Amino acid sequence: MSRSARTSRNSRTARTLARAVTGALLALGTLAVQAQTTGRPTPEALKLRALAATCAHCHGTDGRAVEGEATIRLAGLPADYLLTQLMAFRSGQRPATIMHQITRGYSQEQLESLSTYFAGLK
Ligand code: HEC
Repeated sequence: MSRSARTSRNSRTARTLARAVTGALLALGTLAVQAQTTGRPTPEALKLRALAATCAHCHGTDGRAVEGEATIRLAGLPADYLLTQLMAFRSGQRPATIMHQITRGYSQEQLESLSTYFAGLK
């Protein structure tokens, strides 16, 4: 066998090998992506977290007010209590400095979701 024929067969083998390796890596990559997505929060959960983040300025991250700060804790309060307060702010039944305005920016469904969300946090 001539030297050039051997070289070309070697390079063909190398190309075949490279394709096989690339294929295997792509398959692994797909598996990794699938594994990652199954452990991720659903789009609904992310939306709810984003909605709750609009309360974080005044009530702390995830409604966890820091002890001694001027913020009011929401995390872990009963959902029906939270919703009652939010609806009372919204209707003006409970006087407020700011919450009467804030609650009018949310639908009742959003306030219900937020109440359940904060109640579920510790
Ligand atoms: C700009 C600051 C601010 C933001 C933002 C804010 N709050 Fe408030 N929140 C207050 C203040 C201040 C009070 C006390 C009532 C008042 O004066 O408005 C309060 C009171 C409350 C109360 C009553 C707590 C209790 O124990 O009686 C609830 C429930 C509440 N907020 C929920 C929320 C939710 C849910 C959000 C996000 C949608 C939110 N707040 C966003 C400032 C804020």
